[in-house]
Amino acid sequence: PTTVALIVAAGSGSRAGGTQPKQFRHVRGKPMLWHSYAALAAHPLIDQVYVAIGAEQEAGAMAALADCKEPILLQGGATRRESVYLGLQVIAATQKVDQVLIHDAARPFLSSKVIDDLLDALSFAPGAVPALPVVDSLARGTDILSETVERENLWRIQTPQAFAFQAIYTAHQSWTGAEPTDDARMLMAQGSDVRIVPGAEALNKFTFSSDFAGNNMTSFRSGN
Ligand code: C5P
Repeated sequence: PTTVALIVAAGSGSRAGGTQPKQFRHVRGKPMLWHSYAALAAHPLIDQVYVAIGAEQEAGAMAALADCKEPILLQGGATRRESVYLGLQVIAATQKVDQVLIHDAARPFLSSKVIDDLLDALSFAPGAVPALPVVDSLARGTDILSETVERENLWRIQTPQAFAFQAIYTAHQSWTGAEPTDDARMLMAQGSDVRIVPGAEALNKFTFSSDFAGNNMTSFRSGN
C-alpha cells in the first residue's frame, strides 16, 4: 500500500511562549519539527511526508528542514482540524494514497516501533492510535470535586494516528461537529473501529513553556 504522513505544524504555539512558534524551537539540538519529520521520512514503509504550516512560517519550516530530502510544505488553516483537512485535500489531489499517518509536530520524539505498530493495526481496522492508560485518579469539578471518574479503560490518546486514507478523508468531509482535538474521534463518530497500540511517554505533546525546560529529562532513547 502507498502510505504517506501528514505533520500538522501550523499552530501559533502561543501557550508555549517564546519568540518563535514552538515547532521551530530547538529541543535536543534540533528544531522540534525536524525530529518527527526525520522519524517519519526514515521509515521504510512511508513513501512521502507532507507538512502543514502557517501563513508566515515558510522560512522557519525551510530552515528547520534544511537537511531533509524534499519536504513538501502545505498551507495549514486556522484550527488543527482545518490544517489536517487542507492537507488531506492536497494529498488526494497529488497522488493516490492508501494509508495516512497524521501527526502533531508538537510531539517530536517518535519511535519507529510506534509507526510499525500503527501500520500493523491498519490490517485489522480503518484507524489506529497510540495510547497510554490513565494512571492517576480522575474526577470532574470546578473548585470542588463533584464527581469521580473511574479510570478503568480510559486512555490518553497521542499521535501519529493512522488511517485508511479514504475513511479519514470522508470523515473530514462530512464532519459537522464541534472542533475535535484529534482525527480518530471523527472516524469513531462514523461508527468505524479505531484500534489502540502502545503509546509512549516520549510522545507526550509539548504544550507549555515548562515542557521545553524539562525535555532533556525524559527517558526517550532514539531507536527505542
Ligand atoms: O495547539 P495544539 O498543541 O493542540 O496543536 C497540536 C498540533 O496541531 C501542533 O503540532 C500544531 O502546530 C498543529 N496545529 C495546526 N494548525 C492550527 C493549530 C494547530 O497545524 N491552526
